[in-house]
Amino acid sequence: MKKILFLILLSAFSFLYFQSFTLFSTTTIANEKPVPIPPSQQRTGNAAKGYKYLTEGDYVKGGIPYEFALMATGGKNKKFYLQREGLNGKISHEYTIVTAPNGEKLAAPNCMQCHAQVFDSALYIGMGNTFIDFSLGDKLNAGNFQMLEKLLQKQSPSKYEAAKNFITVSKTIGPKIGTAVRGVNSADRLAAVLAAHRDPVTFKWQQQALLELTNEVIPSDVPAWWLLKKKNAMFYNGFGRGDFGKFLMASNLLTVNDTAESREVDSHISDVLAYIYTLEAPQYPKTINVALAKTGEALFIKNCSKCHGEYGKEEKYPNLLIPESIIKTDSFLYKANYQYPQFIQWFNSSWFATGSHPARLEPFEGYIAPPLDGIWVTAPYLHNGSVPTLEALLNSRTRPAYWSRDFNTPVYDYVKIGWQYTAHNAPGGTAIYNTALPGYGNYGHNFGDKLSDTERKAVIEYLKTL
Ligand code: HEC
Ligand code: HEC
Repeated sequence: MKKILFLILLSAFSFLYFQSFTLFSTTTIANEKPVPIPPSQQRTGNAAKGYKYLTEGDYVKGGIPYEFALMATGGKNKKFYLQREGLNGKISHEYTIVTAPNGEKLAAPNCMQCHAQVFDSALYIGMGNTFIDFSLGDKLNAGNFQMLEKLLQKQSPSKYEAAKNFITVSKTIGPKIGTAVRGVNSADRLAAVLAAHRDPVTFKWQQQALLELTNEVIPSDVPAWWLLKKKNAMFYNGFGRGDFGKFLMASNLLTVNDTAESREVDSHISDVLAYIYTLEAPQYPKTINVALAKTGEALFIKNCSKCHGEYGKEEKYPNLLIPESIIKTDSFLYKANYQYPQFIQWFNSSWFATGSHPARLEPFEGYIAPPLDGIWVTAPYLHNGSVPTLEALLNSRTRPAYWSRDFNTPVYDYVKIGWQYTAHNAPGGTAIYNTALPGYGNYGHNFGDKLSDTERKAVIEYLKTL
């Protein structure tokens, strides 16, 4: 039961990250040159209020009964990093206690499910959670949800009433979000599944899907929040344009009742954006060879800066989208935007695209060249987390096709920079990353290949300083 409850909570990460599913237009011409992304106006807000709303607010208004969540997430050995008060103080940072209309307390999954990670015994809000396990998707079948429903109905009709909406949605989306391996994220897929079941204008839940979905679940990594303040567009594909707050609040779609509720959540979300804009990358904790880093900086400026920008006193970030013909990394994530036009149409004709601060999706055939602040701590690398270390990212010949890391007692490799990993000769289960699968490829971004081993070492030394 404990496992099933956990899976149900996991299935609730229904946050809208619209990477998947669109057709831009019928006249798409393949881009051959990097394309600069223009800035768009953002709302201002209060960062302190944003932090409070992020960690205690009811932007997701549904969940499973508090007592059940405590059981599922295991009270004893858990650490409570956020030092929250009341019932929130007794549950781990990935959940927030919300009150149902009938007064029952529910544990709602929050942004920190995917956007916080423990590193060296400290919790970093804004660091992508690369430990999450979506590979359990097949267990999220209707039978398991029915078991929970029956149990709740028997034990407490009032708790069942409070959790019903959430369970109905989870039952529908749960079985559709499984990834092939652990450590990658299916939030984009969740977004698409949720959208398929909601009217774009009223957000009313439709048990029968309105949009047709493919069966593919294309995985992604999770970008660090501290990068957003430099970026003119959201998401790996750079297709989140206009008002960022509208994307930030999209997790509300999980259990939203109507657009009046969305407006209420939207009224707090610019504070969350203000909080995200205050985040800084964690500093490299070990000694850095200053002379070597200096050599690396010159190499970086020569080979990497035109895409990734310049760092230090005079920061520059060019905000470029790099077309497939140049970047050559796995194309499934961005291609999904072209193969499934209904999703982009859904978004661009939805409540999110209306009002005084509209958002819109503008897909592109390629990926954004991200800022590299704190890159030392955000392994594994590339948009699908397919490359375990910086060393392998900068030398494509050494990238392992099948690799695993220890999810229980992870060890960071401060030489290669990334999680210590084991290479395997063949795929094997969900614990081994399998780069042969569609969407999981580790090819492309060969810009480090031409560096000599000594030069590569120098560039890595420099990357530690960012
Ligand atoms: C189920 C996991 C999950 C949850 C929960 C989640 N996100 Fe995300 N988020 C992602 C993933 C995955 C991406 C990247 C998707 C992509 O680019 O294709 C992302 C992207 C983002 C970005 C864009 C960053 C960038 O640089 O482009 C922001 C900002 C963000 N999320 C904020 C939030 C907020 C705020 C919440 C809570 C209200 C939230 N997310 C909840 C998984 C999640
Ligand atoms: C032509 C533009 C371009 C050049 C030149 C370039 N990069 Fe990149 N880089 C990108 C893009 C685009 C991505 C994202 C690709 C993806 O995720 O599929 C990326 C990703 C990365 C990442 C992984 C980021 C992450 O969060 O996973 C690192 C690290 C990186 N580049 C370092 C470098 C270094 C070091 C150099 C110089 C040796 C370099 N890049 C040269 C465009 C470029």
